[in-house]
Amino acid sequence: MATARGSRYLLKIGRWRRSFGIAPQFRALATLVPGVSHVDNKSDFLGKRPHRRHPGILQLSCVRLPQALADAAQLLLLEGAMPNMEKQVQVLTNYLWSRHLPVEPEELQRRAVLLEKKILENADSCQMEKHQEEVLRALRRTTYHWQKLSYNEGLSLVYMAARLDGGFAAVSRAFHEIQARLPEFQPQTLMDFGSGTGSVTWAAHSTWGQSLREYMCVDSSAAMLELAEKLLKGGSGSGMPCVPGVFFRQFLPVSPKVQFDVVVAAFSLSELPSKADRTDVVQTLWRKTGRFLVLVENGTKAGHSLLMDARDLVLNGKEKSPLDPRPGFVFAPNKKPKEEKFSLVILARGSPEEATRWPRITQPVLRRPRHVHCHLCCPDGRMQHAVITARRHGRDLYRCARVSSWGDLLPVITPSELPPSPAQDAPES
Ligand SMILES: C[S@@+](CC[C@H](N)C(=O)[O-])C[C@H]1O[C@@H](n2cnc3c(N)ncnc32)[C@H](O)[C@@H]1O
Repeated sequence: MATARGSRYLLKIGRWRRSFGIAPQFRALATLVPGVSHVDNKSDFLGKRPHRRHPGILQLSCVRLPQALADAAQLLLLEGAMPNMEKQVQVLTNYLWSRHLPVEPEELQRRAVLLEKKILENADSCQMEKHQEEVLRALRRTTYHWQKLSYNEGLSLVYMAARLDGGFAAVSRAFHEIQARLPEFQPQTLMDFGSGTGSVTWAAHSTWGQSLREYMCVDSSAAMLELAEKLLKGGSGSGMPCVPGVFFRQFLPVSPKVQFDVVVAAFSLSELPSKADRTDVVQTLWRKTGRFLVLVENGTKAGHSLLMDARDLVLNGKEKSPLDPRPGFVFAPNKKPKEEKFSLVILARGSPEEATRWPRITQPVLRRPRHVHCHLCCPDGRMQHAVITARRHGRDLYRCARVSSWGDLLPVITPSELPPSPAQDAPES
């Protein structure tokens, strides 16, 4: 229901639309959120900083691989001398980006029943065996065939060439968010599930190298573990590792007794063959999480969907850790930066009040003359489309909104935190 105040704003927006040609898809959505009229100045959040560096900005403009890692990867590629490397990198990249989730057995069964019904409707009932074969053939033809990748020595090298930089950048962005919002958080231990080339370890070392003293890399592929270890040692099997305190394991330790400050699964949940396997692993990872569980996947529908399942699993509390009863909350939702498209969820243990409760921008910010469109995901989970102007909302909020981007936090008090005003209670006019 639009409020009286909201209706007036809608009229004004109508005028803007006519004068500045806002795309039609925004017309139906545009409302001015009543609560987004207050910049969150409780804590003098800007201090002496300019608006373009307000503390809600979480972008990483450019991420570089550490030189030692880039050099070691180059060396291994030269030594590997694999034929058609570029072609193989392209094929793997295409495969990973177009990959769907595996079809679950129940879904397969449902499709088989439907196909059988259809075939039987137009067939001779005495040829039962023939019909069953026909169902299987049709099922094979129409069902996405998910394949488990076997990361042997060759594929591990191709994966490194294809994904080392992108994976490192995506995970660095996730760590940067935690560090920017909680600078006092100094993790000592980290576990990386499906550690592959070890890019998570390198990104964690770049972010919290001063405090981290143990990195546990878990990967079922012996070839990947060997490659990660070589990368740490400058591309050779011997020598001192660039990052101290890294341990390699082929199996995920399931005991909840030992927790890690940060637990990560980057591009690994999508390697598991079924929802049941993913559930199992997410539950184990959450049990092992002392503070943050960081899950990263490709910025695709499949990646997003499996992260939402993982998030719900943790938030709905189906997973009860016998030793750690603290509930989970979402510390950061999805975002898609320009160069590397990824889905991200960071779950944290403890109380959500500890984290900043500003709304997050969930779409590209539309900067128009004298007003800005921001799509916001508010701390209470509601989605809002705010149209922010300097006249209505003040110069600080307007300028902060203008310099913010998709994925940033907007430093405003959102409606749920404000007592309802008489105008908000008024019926639609
Ligand atoms: C796509 S790679 C991701 C590597 C790395 N996390 C990154 O960001 O580049 C997925 C890794 O998960 C590993 N993996 C797959 N199933 C696993 C399992 N059940 N337990 C441990 N590791 C697994 C694979 O061997 C592979 O190295």
